[in-house]
Amino acid sequence: MIVEIKHIVYLLASVSFIMGLKMLSNPKTARNGNLLAAAGMIGAIIAAIFFHKGEVSSLIYWLIFGAIALGTIVGWVTAKKVQMTKMPELVSLFNGMGGACAALIGLVEFHHYVGDATSMSVILAGMVIGSVSFSGSMIAWAKLNGTLRNAIRLPKYNILNTIILVGLFIYAAYIVYTGTANELHIYTLFAAAILYGILFVIPIGGADMPVVISLLNSFTGLAAAFGGFLYGNQVMLTGGILVGSAGTLLTLVMCKAMNRPLFNVIFGAFGETEAAGGGGPQGNVKEVGPSDLAVQMNYSKKILIVPGYGLAVAQAQHVIKELEQILEERGVEVAYAIHPVAGRMPGHMNVLLAESNVDYDKLKEMEDVNPEFPQTDIVLVVGANDVVNPAAKTDPTSPIYGMPILEVENAKNVVVNKRSMNAGYAGIQNELFFRDKTNMLFGDAKKVLTDLVSELKALD
Ligand code: TAP
Repeated sequence: MIVEIKHIVYLLASVSFIMGLKMLSNPKTARNGNLLAAAGMIGAIIAAIFFHKGEVSSLIYWLIFGAIALGTIVGWVTAKKVQMTKMPELVSLFNGMGGACAALIGLVEFHHYVGDATSMSVILAGMVIGSVSFSGSMIAWAKLNGTLRNAIRLPKYNILNTIILVGLFIYAAYIVYTGTANELHIYTLFAAAILYGILFVIPIGGADMPVVISLLNSFTGLAAAFGGFLYGNQVMLTGGILVGSAGTLLTLVMCKAMNRPLFNVIFGAFGETEAAGGGGPQGNVKEVGPSDLAVQMNYSKKILIVPGYGLAVAQAQHVIKELEQILEERGVEVAYAIHPVAGRMPGHMNVLLAESNVDYDKLKEMEDVNPEFPQTDIVLVVGANDVVNPAAKTDPTSPIYGMPILEVENAKNVVVNKRSMNAGYAGIQNELFFRDKTNMLFGDAKKVLTDLVSELKALD
C-alpha cells in the first residue's frame, strides 16, 4: 500500500513539474507555475522519505532533516538577498550543488553495484556529468563575480580538453568492463571529471557565461535523470529529463538570439579578448537634457522604451513605470520593446519590469515591435547597447554580426540613456550613438529618469 501511495505522489509531482514548466512560459502564470512545481517537489521529497520500504535508522532521519533544514535556510536567505543583476551567479551556484549531489550518488552507490555492467554504466555516467557540472558551475560563478576574470587559458586548450574528455570515456569504459571493486579507480575518475569541468569552462568568454550556465544546467538534469534511472525513482527521472531538455532548449534559444552557434560559444572565447578593445566608430554625439526631452515627449503620439542591462544596474524599473504612467495620462501611447537577450539572463527585462507592475501586454517582443519603429516618435533606450547596435546588420567584421537587433534606428527620434560612451557587453562601440537623429541622455538611469519625470510634471 505504502509503495502505491508513493507512486501516486510521484506521478502527481511529475505532472506538477510539467504543468509548472508550461506555466513558466507566460509572465502572468510564471509565479504560480513555480509554486506548483515546488509543491510537487516537496510532495516527492516527503514521499521518498516516509514511504520508503524497509528499516531506516533514526540517525539517517536526523541527517536528512538536518541537511534539509540547513539547505532551506541557506537557499532562502541567499535567494531573498540576491540582487537581480547577480541572478546568473546564484543560478550557477545552485546548479553546481545539483551537479555535486548527482556526483555524490555515484561515489556512494558505486560499491553496491560492482559487477553489474548496466548499473555501473548509469552510475559512472551520472557521476562524471554531475562532477563536470559541479566544477564547471563553480568556475562560471567565479568568472561572473569577477574572481576569475583573468584566468589563464592553457595553450592548445581545445585539444587538451578533447583529450581529457576522450580519456574520461575510455577510463569509465575500462571500469565497467573490468568490473573492478577498487575504489581508487572511481575516485580517480571523479577527480578527472572535476578537472575537466574546470578546464572546459575556464577558456569560455565572460560574455558567453549565461549560455554556459544554461548548458551546465542541462548537464545537471541529465545527471539527476541517471540517478532516477538507477534508483527506479520515476519522479527523479522525470525531473532530471525536464531540467535536461529545458536547459538544452534554453541554451539553443540563447545561441539563436545572439546568432552564435553553440560550437562557437564553447570553443570561441568570445567576450574576453574582444571586450577589452571597445573600438569601433567614433565622432561627435548630440546631447539632450531631461527638460528638453520632457517637452518633446509631452508632444509625442507614440513612444517605445527599450530597456537593457543598465536599467537593471540602476534599479530604475519603478521610475520607468512612473514615466510610462505620466506619459499615458498625457495621451501618449507607450510600450516596451524587449530583446530576448537584453540584460544578463533570459527574461531579465520581463522580470525587472514585472517588479514595478508594468502591464504584460505592454511588453512587445522583438519580431512584433520591429515593424512599429518607423511610426514611433521617440525611442527611449535605457541602459541598452548591444541589442540596438546596427553593426549587427551592417558590419560583417563585428563580433555581434548576424545577431537580431531591435531596429530603433528606424524611429523618428532616438534617445539613448547611459552614463558614458563606454561599450556594452560585447565590448564594441555603437554607431547608433553618432547618428543624426540620435540624442544622448547621459547619466545614471534612475537619476536621469527621475529628473525627466519631474520635468514632465512641471509641464502641467
Ligand atoms: P549591454 O550591451 O551590456 O549595455 C548595457 C549598457 O548599459 C552599457 O553600455 C552601459 O553603458 C549602460 N549602463 C550601465 N549601468 C548604467 C546605469 N546605471 N544607468 C544607465 N546606463 C547604464 O546591455 P544590453 O543592450 O542589454 O545587451 C545585453 C548583452 O548581454 C548582449 O551583448 C547579450 O548578448 C549579452 N548576453 C545576454 C544574455 C541574456 S540571456 N540576457 C546572455 C549572454 C549574454 P555606460 O557604462 O556608459 O553607462
